[in-house]
Amino acid sequence: MTPRKRNSTLFIVACAAAVFAPSVVCFAQAQSGYACPSGRTGCYQSGYAGLTDLEEHGRDTWYFWTGGDRDATGKQVVGDQALWRILAVQSHGTFDLLQAADSRYRGQRFKLFGVISDPDCRKATHPDRYGLWLDDCSSPDVPRIPDIPGEPAGIIGMRKFPNPNFKESDWDVNKYMADPAKVEPPYLIGIACGFCHVGFNPLHPPADPENPKWHNLHPGIGNQYFKEQLFNTSKYPPERGLKTGDFRWQVANAQPPGTSETSQVATDHINNPNVINNIANLNFRPKHRERTEDGVERDVYHVLKDGADSIGSACLDDPTPRPGVNDTACAALRVYVNIGLCAAIWTTLQDPVFGLKRVQGVFDPKLARQQNSACNQGWLATQARMEGLEAFLRTLTPLRLADADGGATYLPKNSESVVRGKLVFAENCARCHSSKRPPQSYQGEAVDWYRIAVMQDDFLNDNFLSDDERHPVSEIGTNIERAMASNATEGHIWQEFSSGTYKKLPEVHIDGLVNPLHTSLHLLPVEATGGRGYYRTPTLANMWATAPFLHNNSVGLFSNDPSVAGRLAAFQDAMNELLWPERRPGLKTIRRTTQASTFTYQEGGTVCISRNTPIDMIANVDLVTPEIFRKDNFITRFLCHVIGSGHLNGLFLLADNAPDFVQDRGHTYGSALSDEDKHLLIEYLKTF
Ligand code: HEC
Ligand code: HEC
Repeated sequence: MTPRKRNSTLFIVACAAAVFAPSVVCFAQAQSGYACPSGRTGCYQSGYAGLTDLEEHGRDTWYFWTGGDRDATGKQVVGDQALWRILAVQSHGTFDLLQAADSRYRGQRFKLFGVISDPDCRKATHPDRYGLWLDDCSSPDVPRIPDIPGEPAGIIGMRKFPNPNFKESDWDVNKYMADPAKVEPPYLIGIACGFCHVGFNPLHPPADPENPKWHNLHPGIGNQYFKEQLFNTSKYPPERGLKTGDFRWQVANAQPPGTSETSQVATDHINNPNVINNIANLNFRPKHRERTEDGVERDVYHVLKDGADSIGSACLDDPTPRPGVNDTACAALRVYVNIGLCAAIWTTLQDPVFGLKRVQGVFDPKLARQQNSACNQGWLATQARMEGLEAFLRTLTPLRLADADGGATYLPKNSESVVRGKLVFAENCARCHSSKRPPQSYQGEAVDWYRIAVMQDDFLNDNFLSDDERHPVSEIGTNIERAMASNATEGHIWQEFSSGTYKKLPEVHIDGLVNPLHTSLHLLPVEATGGRGYYRTPTLANMWATAPFLHNNSVGLFSNDPSVAGRLAAFQDAMNELLWPERRPGLKTIRRTTQASTFTYQEGGTVCISRNTPIDMIANVDLVTPEIFRKDNFITRFLCHVIGSGHLNGLFLLADNAPDFVQDRGHTYGSALSDEDKHLLIEYLKTF
């Protein structure tokens, strides 16, 4: 037997389960099961085995589909690349993905921006015929999928398209770099879901994070290292990017790695970036009966951190419930809208970049599709792919530390200690963090049921490790900013994507918020209404690999190290802070400006912000600014002086949409346990 054949046999054994149960993926098991186009063993497809055709279709959607290319006229852009071009124009290049993809950063992209370079591409050795530096992605292994337009742009999840409005005779690269609003570029950049959701595979981390191979990547773990706004605003060379004295740099720099500000465009005027959660065990996610926006009662998930997105299948044209289909399909379709589909319509319902010029309107997908053929075409083409996407996401199962390269050495050796850790979990955590629950007929105390359930060898299998319930933030005690998000409430842009049940949730009374200017004082209580004020319980699957913790990645060290040891160091540190709240930095996590900075309106007016100002005090205020204040004149210069000297701080605090500044507070379940019990609980959690 040649070594190659022996590998193949191993591959067959390891993936046998997958053959009989097609919805179990044997992810990245063996590289030899698939012959790549180049004849090599490592290409995009080779990490997968046992996927059905539908699941493969979904996998390709996840990695490459941005919503389409262009409409029948050939001029209107259909996919999300339309949004990124609109943002580059309206921000005059501050935010431009085409410049952010500059190949001269290849080799440092992970370190600087936490993005992952595409293994099929190489660093450009010279500018292209338009003077742009983009990765060379001419490898024969680049997947060519007949019904997916676009080409790789050098970074995982990023796609490059010819710009239908480009005119070579008008092109001038320097003019473009100075202001992308001035001239149409040859390419548009779009992003697929994998851009944020694909991360380094915790089981097989890359030897060099700047140059990973396909088997070092995992589709569902989420990119814990992504520095979103530093990347989006990056330029080559760095001096062309935002300056530290620009308030926007201050906001970008304070954003925790691994998070995305999902309500930045359209903005809800709350600086509430939230973690890209990992996706696993969707088949076991509990559902809830809700009245969806079309008036029909359905069993739905509580999608998103605040559980706001609970549309189920209400936005599909064919909402007939089908087992195993349609549950996340519609929620996924809505994410395409969020990252750019139909942008030509919804960016007119608000001021997309800063939200300063007008208040939000409601995006009605049905109306938008009637008004705009590109929107309708992108919607239909994307909708047709959602069944596959959902099927693919349903194949993702937790990655166990025991299966990681060298992972077994970190696991508890003593079975008695594991038994005690399980009991501690049953008594303190399982009522929220388990989808295996006492049956309705069960008469006793729930905790007694959990005490028995956790001892079953298969307790962790097929367990979503969450009740998927929305819990009031006043009870959970974590930072309220993400729970105060308002885009899905009545009258706001994503109104159509949340349920009636969500909008009628009981009001939440929040007290005890720290005044960031005098930290010994409290602010006035906040009432969260209209669906706001809740956090959905997240799954604990994969938690050994996904620290720091909480919706804002605020608890624990950011190790910036995707190795097994690096992930475990982050996990240990986060657990240390989670279970011993007195060890958390607390007031030090208030995001503050590192130096005096200014925010300059496009019309010329300037707002001055002094050093050490709580960033969210300025960023969480939504005042549509009258034009007179946006211009540079005597009044605005005077205002700048007054704001900069701190005289208006009290007003800013009063107008704050989510006046919570301490990032790492709550939840404190388990903090009263003995030190020994805490340590045993941590050992058990490592096995999730
Ligand atoms: C810019 C980064 C980014 C991109 C691109 C992105 N996501 Fe996400 N995704 C996130 C973040 C952040 C969250 C967590 C949001 C939350 O829970 O409020 C998330 C959460 C999710 C979840 C889990 C929600 C839950 O409640 O469990 C799903 C499913 C999902 N995204 C699907 C998609 C799909 C489909 C696409 C492509 C159309 C996509 N994502 C593109 C950042 C991204
Ligand atoms: C009353 C319900 C409830 C109980 C009990 C509970 N949790 Fe949670 N847990 C939540 C909610 C809700 C969140 C999300 C909070 C946030 O992100 O702001 C959460 C978040 C977490 C996270 C962060 C996960 C991530 O992906 O960042 C961890 C870890 C966690 N809980 C562990 C535990 C442990 C360990 C226990 C028991 C000692 C426990 N929880 C008890 C509801 C609960």
